[in-house]
Amino acid sequence: MSSKKSTPSHDHDQVHQPPKEFAKKARIPSLAAYRKLYQKSIEKPAGFWAKEAKELLWRKKWSKTLEWKAPFAKWFVGGRLNVCENCVDRHAEGARKNKAAIIWEGEPGDKRVLTYGQLQREVCRFANVLEKKGVKAGERVLIYMPMIPEAAVAMLACARIGAAHNVVFGGFAADAIVDRLEDSGATTIVTADGGWRRGKVVPLKPVVDEALAKYRHVQRVIVVKRCENEVSMTDPRDTWWHDEVAAVSARHKAKAFDSEHPLFLLYTSGSTGKPKGILHTSGGYLTGTYSTCKYIFDMNDEDVYWCTADVGWITGHSYIVYGPLANGVTQVMYEGAPNFPDFGRFWKMVEEYGVTIFYTAPTAIRAFIKAGDHFPAACDLSSLRLLGSVGEPINPEAWNWYHKHIGGGKCPIVDTWWQTETGAILISPLPGATPLKAGTATLPFFGIDAAILDEAGKECKPDQDGRLVIRKPWPSMIRTIHGDKERYRKTYWSDYPGLYTAGDGARRDKDGNFWIIGRLDDVLNVSGHRLGTAEIESALVSHPAVAEAAVIGRPDDLKGQAVAAFVTLKGGFDESVGLREELRGHVGKVIGAIAKPDDLFFTPGLPKTRSGKIMRRLLKELVTTGTVAGNVTTLEDFSVVENLQRQISESRARQ
Ligand code: WT7
Repeated sequence: MSSKKSTPSHDHDQVHQPPKEFAKKARIPSLAAYRKLYQKSIEKPAGFWAKEAKELLWRKKWSKTLEWKAPFAKWFVGGRLNVCENCVDRHAEGARKNKAAIIWEGEPGDKRVLTYGQLQREVCRFANVLEKKGVKAGERVLIYMPMIPEAAVAMLACARIGAAHNVVFGGFAADAIVDRLEDSGATTIVTADGGWRRGKVVPLKPVVDEALAKYRHVQRVIVVKRCENEVSMTDPRDTWWHDEVAAVSARHKAKAFDSEHPLFLLYTSGSTGKPKGILHTSGGYLTGTYSTCKYIFDMNDEDVYWCTADVGWITGHSYIVYGPLANGVTQVMYEGAPNFPDFGRFWKMVEEYGVTIFYTAPTAIRAFIKAGDHFPAACDLSSLRLLGSVGEPINPEAWNWYHKHIGGGKCPIVDTWWQTETGAILISPLPGATPLKAGTATLPFFGIDAAILDEAGKECKPDQDGRLVIRKPWPSMIRTIHGDKERYRKTYWSDYPGLYTAGDGARRDKDGNFWIIGRLDDVLNVSGHRLGTAEIESALVSHPAVAEAAVIGRPDDLKGQAVAAFVTLKGGFDESVGLREELRGHVGKVIGAIAKPDDLFFTPGLPKTRSGKIMRRLLKELVTTGTVAGNVTTLEDFSVVENLQRQISESRARQ
């Protein structure tokens, strides 16, 4: 569990009422209006969601809104639609034809604008390419791309032809690609030569080649030329995007698919084993992302929206690609790092494009605080009207800074709680209605029956810590874990039969606001990214020098949590600074740079119970406080702890 508790201290107790000007124009203009609609939506969730879904384009209307055979849901049963048509054609063939859909900036400063009309042509071309190359509805396509418009185009083209995409974050390593290919059975990869990050080229195609040396069932690799870095192309498997799209028509007739047709797989970490493939389907997912964008970001035709996530994460799927485009909004997309060439980059872009809604992560906000107030102060940020936060609890210091230095004290902040599995935001303020307090995601969205239960399954009293559950199905929910229904049932639906357990600890205050405390399982939240301790441990143990490893999270001012690893070496290997760096690099190579341990301690043994279980609680206490004060009577060998205590205090003294 994250130790960053969001308990309100006195100076952070302040309640921020929605600004009157904002409320006047908002879709939900008061707390009373929210409560009324919420009450109705909770009595008849299907009624609420059906009304939302009707705002989308269906080729065939559904016959039944929800079929719930716990834990398996079907939404809009019998309905048929094309998700891509809803995000693109609906606007391109109407008044928004020449409206900017994506205003893109590359890290080096190159710029591109795609109107809805142009986006339609690009998407149709790539859909034609996929079909021409034999990609069929129901097949999986792995996408490994930098943040360039082609990433969104590739996703939408998959949706258009009914192929399920599996986007893999560009920071992940070759083995992560291999794992996903093996699990998903993808036959096609869309990638780029590389992407720009902090002034350098991050190679992507070479990583794909490394993965394909281990996994040989991929039939086609389509490569966008972005950075002109040297790549090798294997004929006839590998082809260039620009050659392919030049050879096909910019028109493509979209077929309709069943509402429950798979839309995508996205892999995320759990507390055990390899990442699991979260399956999202079509009609329900689109309804959830569309509706939450409309109410929570209060999206309008005049808005310029910017979500700084990467399409490799669920935030990029739901709140860059599907939700905003389904709303026909104009959005900004950026390829590179927030601090390139310096920490003023985001604010210069907000000023240049007149961004009105800005959505980012607390870890980024903390980095901006550290960089200095002069960066935002140098830019005109007056276009902003709404701010958002996602990925981890936002600490009150970050909230207050964001509110003052970015929002000029006038923008509501929506602290949005959700997960890869939930598909869309479930708990969040509505900006024109909900009174805000720094650190709380406030109240559940329409149709979302959220509660906090104790271990016995009883609802917790105000301010009592417990486990966050959702008691009714919702349209954008996970449908299953790819290939493993049992794991799906066990992971999410077995703590309290029939209820969805999120894996988060939380409490509600007396006003009903949800305060998320953090994960209850062995899942870390590093800079808003989810990592399983088990995955990092298994990466460490795959190195020939390592006998055993234990990984835990420790509080970190910037990242939220940092990765601390404890490693026991095999006989014949000596502890050294060189080996420490090698092991960190090894984790980077196996999983990706985000998983590299921040601290790595060598230890002749790990603290274990007499039955051999690693005592993580104790390791956590050690790295957090430097000592162990708790009960150690079950510990098998105390000298292990003494040794670690000494190392930790030495490493602190060095810093
Ligand atoms: C976990 C889900 C949702 C997209 C990004 C992460 C934590 C997420 C918040 C928030 C407190 C949050 C939870 C959750 N989390 N948003 N607003 N306040 N915690 O998606 O990788 O699936 O991680 O992120 O612990 O369970 P994810």
